[in-house]
Amino acid sequence: MDYTLEYFQKSADYIRAIVPWRPEVAVVLGSFLGPFADAIEDPIVIEYGDIPNFLVSTVQGHAGKLIFGTVAGRRVVCMSGRFHSYEGYDFEQLVIPVRLFRLLGAKALILTNAAGAVNTEYRPGDIMLVSDHIKLTGNSPLRGRNIDAFGPRFFDVSHMYTPELRALARECAEGTGLTLREGVYMFFTGPQFETPAEIRVARILGADAVGMSTVTEALTAAHCGMPVLCLSVMTNMAAGVLDQPLTQEEVLETATTVAARLSVCLKKIIERIGEVVAL
Ligand code: HPA
Repeated sequence: MDYTLEYFQKSADYIRAIVPWRPEVAVVLGSFLGPFADAIEDPIVIEYGDIPNFLVSTVQGHAGKLIFGTVAGRRVVCMSGRFHSYEGYDFEQLVIPVRLFRLLGAKALILTNAAGAVNTEYRPGDIMLVSDHIKLTGNSPLRGRNIDAFGPRFFDVSHMYTPELRALARECAEGTGLTLREGVYMFFTGPQFETPAEIRVARILGADAVGMSTVTEALTAAHCGMPVLCLSVMTNMAAGVLDQPLTQEEVLETATTVAARLSVCLKKIIERIGEVVAL
């Protein structure tokens, strides 16, 4: 499929007819981190299925709706339910949500996800601020014809996880009871969890955590010059670290346990994000 600017604008036009204001910050909620959405005041909820040229969520723990509203006095759009390559979407399709946020005028992107801890000093329930990523499998979401209105064909990703936003997140995590780490997220396509051998490779390559999402959204934001913050919930130790099988239940349990504290931290970040990003 050859995506054009008009393709993305069609989704944005549909939203603008419903939401009469510009979101300042976009938030993507990872697996089972939906509770943050309950904190959004004066919500306007739009089902993914109603948005032209958008995608639909197919995974348990991903609700499938955009929620527009106010958090700590800031206008936000929150994506409750994200899209992954393992659902059958092409990498090129995974630019869609972030491009929509960009067209709607959002000036910063906050990503959250559930991930497996590769770094053996980490513990389930820890939060890792993503400082960089490794993506050796799958395609780039920016593959295909470049749309210059979003960004240049070739673009720098040296500091795509904005250092100033990470510094702000560290301050905001104080007093929330969260254990904060900072490290490298490695992308695997899934849907199978990784093999123990793959996790050993990931560790040798410098990964601290592994997951099946996030990098496509972060790359799309980097392409259009949008600052990115990513908070990864370590829902489990990665394959082979402990002598036990990985289950979706474990991911659910840990994500649910930290979701409330993470929501408090996110709210504080959104309250102060104007100190770091021009909104
Ligand atoms: N691997 C990949 N993705 C994940 C994991 C994992 O161990 N845990 C939660 N998402």
